[in-house]
Amino acid sequence: MGYTALYRKFRPTKFSEMVGQEHIKKTLKNQLIAGRVGHAYLFNGGRGTGKTTTAKILARAVNCLNLKDGEPCNECEICKAALERVTYGYY
Ligand SMILES: Nc1ncnc2c1ncn2[C@@H]1O[C@H](COP(=O)(O)OP(=O)(O)O)[C@@H](O)[C@H]1O
Ligand SMILES: [Mg+2]
Ligand SMILES: [Zn+2]
Repeated sequence: MGYTALYRKFRPTKFSEMVGQEHIKKTLKNQLIAGRVGHAYLFNGGRGTGKTTTAKILARAVNCLNLKDGEPCNECEICKAALERVTYGYY
């Protein structure tokens, strides 16, 4: 329980808050800015390296009403609903 809460509490909500993974962030932001987002992504890597975090940021960015420089605004109704949603399982 506390384990999950910590993951949620400290999970970055923007690419700019993520440490490292520069090539991943740059590639995804460029695709978002260009409006050329792929129809599927496969995130590969060790545990705790940011795969879920990246997927969550990307999902919000794709749906965000005020995309700014490839980042989700985290303030529009779509972003807020995604951030507030209580999901289940590992995340
Ligand atoms: N690149 C990163 N920058 C900042 N925090 C990170 C990064 N990668 C992982 N974390 C932190 O570690 C936790 C686990 O990351 P997560 O994205 O769930 O890893 P994965 O899905 O790859 O196992 C997150 O809550 C987040 O706070
Ligand atoms: Mg994960
Ligand atoms: Zn938004």
